[in-house]
Amino acid sequence: MASYTAKDFSNLIGMDGFSETLLRNHFTLYQGYVNNTNKLQELLSGKPKDATNPEYAELKRRFGFEFNGMRLHEYYFENLGGKVSIDKSGILSKKLADAYDSYDIWEQDFRATGAMRGIGWAILYQDDVTGWLFNQWINEHEIGHLAGCKPILVMDVFEHAFLTDYGLKRADYIAAFFKNINWGAVETRLKQ
Ligand SMILES: [Fe+2]
Repeated sequence: MASYTAKDFSNLIGMDGFSETLLRNHFTLYQGYVNNTNKLQELLSGKPKDATNPEYAELKRRFGFEFNGMRLHEYYFENLGGKVSIDKSGILSKKLADAYDSYDIWEQDFRATGAMRGIGWAILYQDDVTGWLFNQWINEHEIGHLAGCKPILVMDVFEHAFLTDYGLKRADYIAAFFKNINWGAVETRLKQ
């Protein structure tokens, strides 16, 4: 059976505002999601397909948690490590301004989405049908995804993403995240 392999994001070490300890721990957590996605695939392939079997049902439910935990970390690490701010005359900035009245209001909304109470993710999505952009809150890894929409910018706001460096000051972590967004990588995800 095909299995997933964890990607190497060690190029991010040294990023301003993120300690090596925090990043290495985060890579280890990400590796756990990859391992568990593979493990679940393996376990489910060997289980009788019996909906009345609670073990089968729980493994099936769990797959969304582990798979999204794996994939969202990949989006997150891939949209970090940038050194330049967003091109204000570029297509992404224009689309954000169209969606939220101005780039600044979009950024305020994205930061506020990420600062909400709870553990999860702030995700800028693009609707594949209309091309419209939305900032969305994802609870844990799997609850709240918009069907058929593509993640354009992904920010982890589980405590493990910031507690080591920022304690409970989530807004300070979000500020550090914004300083390190790889806008080039983000723009390549956008459908024009
Ligand atoms: Fe994480």
